[in-house]
Amino acid sequence: MWILGIAGSHNSGVALIRDGKVVVAVQTERLVRIKRQAIHLDRMRVDAALAIAYCLRYAGIGMRDLNVIATSTPFRAAKPGFALDEKALAAKHALPSFITVPHHLAHAEYALHYSPQQACNVLICDGSGTYEFDRAGLDIKEDEDEPVKFLQGVAKESISAYTFDGGNLRLIYRVADGPVRCGSSECSPSDQYTRVKSLGKLWEWAALYCHGSHNEAGKVMGLAPYGRSLNRTLTKSVVLDRSGKPHFTFAPLMREFHCPNLDCRDVSGQMHYQDVAASVQEVTNSFLVDLVRYIGARHEMSELCYAGGVALNGVTNEHLRRSLDLELHMNGSCEDNGTAIGAALAAFHALTGDRVPEEASDYLGCRYTSEEIAQALKCNAGTMVRLPRLELLRRTARALASGAVVGWFQGRSEFGPRALGNRSILADPRDPGMQKRLNVEVKRREAFRPYAPVVIEARADEFFCLAGYASPHMLRVVPVKVDFLPAVTHVDGTARVQTVNRQQNALLHDLLQCFEMESGIPVLLNTSFNVAGEPIVESPVDALRSFKACGLDVLVIEDNWVTAAP
Ligand SMILES: [Fe+2]
Repeated sequence: MWILGIAGSHNSGVALIRDGKVVVAVQTERLVRIKRQAIHLDRMRVDAALAIAYCLRYAGIGMRDLNVIATSTPFRAAKPGFALDEKALAAKHALPSFITVPHHLAHAEYALHYSPQQACNVLICDGSGTYEFDRAGLDIKEDEDEPVKFLQGVAKESISAYTFDGGNLRLIYRVADGPVRCGSSECSPSDQYTRVKSLGKLWEWAALYCHGSHNEAGKVMGLAPYGRSLNRTLTKSVVLDRSGKPHFTFAPLMREFHCPNLDCRDVSGQMHYQDVAASVQEVTNSFLVDLVRYIGARHEMSELCYAGGVALNGVTNEHLRRSLDLELHMNGSCEDNGTAIGAALAAFHALTGDRVPEEASDYLGCRYTSEEIAQALKCNAGTMVRLPRLELLRRTARALASGAVVGWFQGRSEFGPRALGNRSILADPRDPGMQKRLNVEVKRREAFRPYAPVVIEARADEFFCLAGYASPHMLRVVPVKVDFLPAVTHVDGTARVQTVNRQQNALLHDLLQCFEMESGIPVLLNTSFNVAGEPIVESPVDALRSFKACGLDVLVIEDNWVTAAP
């Protein structure tokens, strides 16, 4: 059974599953080359068509082979449709039926799919999901287990928790807060952050305030360790009371913090913004610990599947794990693009009653052929040589150890927001000048922003405080144990670590081994392969363009060693 999943979101994506297993998935932004490209389900256009065609082409099937199209959206529920002439399209492509899935349920099925599927709780926390008044019109209804619900205003879900008993997934907790009615003291029609209240919206507000764009929550997380969590308006902005009810007090934020950084200045070294970021991080940590503790008191579990945009916060994830002694199950696409997979999985479960767990992996995109790569490289005026695998690895490791910055393009592209070694820029983490060089010359981004390490999983505890747990998706921020990795050690002595084993990514694992022979450590700096402001590269053409624009020393694209013209 083929099911196509579509995440109709501000961070949209398309996925294809077969008999309950994920075959391929892509974020629309990678193909359109515009960060966080949205899909509106009721008027899908060429961007959605590109992502659908990408998935069908990978699987070698056509629209008429699909059994169902499953959709999920945090926008208003609407009948899915194409902006083109739908009748003509339906006649040509024999569109199958659509199944609409609640947004948080799609997040939950995604998270659960990549877990052992034993008894556990599932937590979803994001900006906003399905409107309560749309829920009855969706094709899939959630099973419930006497849930505690806090629904306020014209409510949109922002926190949901489920319990899973090995077979059934049941809602146990839901928060849906705002928008409030206009005329209330909390309401300012121009201000969405006083209208939709959620943890995700707090981070969107902080991103807009500190960095001029509500999409830059990751930058806020990077800025936070420079600051102090002192501001009581912020640290009291999200509180969970003893009944499990969250209180989002956002209106005072708008009054106190009225000069957002709308011209996107570099706020490195600016104490005011650093303290805002630190306070937002602190309130998030404490709120989520209180929330998970509250949920656990009613449905005790030692394992938690966790997704939603807030789950990208590796600092909070580690705080949760350490404070509550939890085992967290997560995969790389915990934000909305992952609901493309989750919607398809929810539809599969609704139709068959089955779930088919898989090992977590974010390498869900396309692999490109030698012909496609050769065609792209024709435009390069520099040198190109094909090398046997071992020689390629040794030469790359030698270049890295002598200071080269390498574009590394291998295998299937990542689906989520992190480059996990298939569309990455790699460098030597020991080099004290590397962070500055990358920020100034390559990525052209703010001085305060840290870089992440990738390390062989079996050796990770020598360098990072991982407490025996792996971190294959860069979703944990942990203390660095050693003082010789300055390029990947943040100002507070932590790093957002990626661990890798041979089963997950043999080539990256072997490159780390070769780098250890050159340098004595199986650790590399790993950052996403893209120029500032663009999505991560997807195709060989994208890679060559970014290689030149970033001024990288070498591009390794599959088994080709490529240099630019001198
Ligand atoms: Fe979401």
